[in-house]
Amino acid sequence: MIRGDKVLLRPIEETDYPLLHRWMNHPEVWHYMDYERPFSMEDIKEDVELARREGEPFIICVGDRPVGRIGLNRFRGRDRTCGIYMFIGEPAFWGQGFARDAVLALLSYAFERMDLHQVELWALGDNDRAVAMYRRCGFVEEARLRERSFNQGGWVDHIVMSVNREEFLKARASSRDANREPDRGDRTSR
Ligand SMILES: CC(C)(COP(=O)(O)OP(=O)(O)OC[C@H]1O[C@@H](n2cnc3c(N)ncnc32)[C@H](O)[C@@H]1OP(=O)(O)O)[C@@H](O)C(=O)NCCC(=O)NCCS
Repeated sequence: MIRGDKVLLRPIEETDYPLLHRWMNHPEVWHYMDYERPFSMEDIKEDVELARREGEPFIICVGDRPVGRIGLNRFRGRDRTCGIYMFIGEPAFWGQGFARDAVLALLSYAFERMDLHQVELWALGDNDRAVAMYRRCGFVEEARLRERSFNQGGWVDHIVMSVNREEFLKARASSRDANREPDRGDRTSR
């Protein structure tokens, strides 16, 4: 279990497969995750087993309610790097800072518990919401790879981003400052 300020990350269980099936076939999740074809239940099982073999997959929960998936993958031991991926599968939960909190919580785990040096990802070039959220978590845009996906009838660029420990620590501190209630002194001085 990994605790954020707003979300909890827990291991994936077999009872999550129907939810994952619905989420991963949701048109917007499906498009932005750049999946190649629709998922059957069997595909979901294989995908989770692969994610477990190659990394650490988690369900994102708000209270008891599962709302999305996040994970680390592509570990490179010598270089102390890995990749990160995520989605919020319940559109009603978008825009409330749950993705940012989940990413910051998993980055705390990656940098402070696993002692990694850098975490990387790529997003589709038209995914402004995800890129804005990753920037707020400290990720820096490194490159734009031209026309790397043929997605729903058109070519789409990839945006490559990465974050190192110092960038993450700064982003987490400013996220905590922004979430903090003004104290009594702040209120009375206005
Ligand atoms: C991208 C996604 C993870 C964001 O989840 P979320 O919980 O809404 O994210 P947050 O609320 O933490 O942050 C969203 C940020 O994007 C901003 N935003 C929203 N719509 C935007 C837009 N059209 N353009 C730019 N920024 C936008 C919000 O203002 C917010 O920034 P702020 O915290 O500075 O206000 C979610 O929409 C999702 O799962 N989408 C489908 C799958 C996906 O894209 N996964 C990522 C693949 S790389």
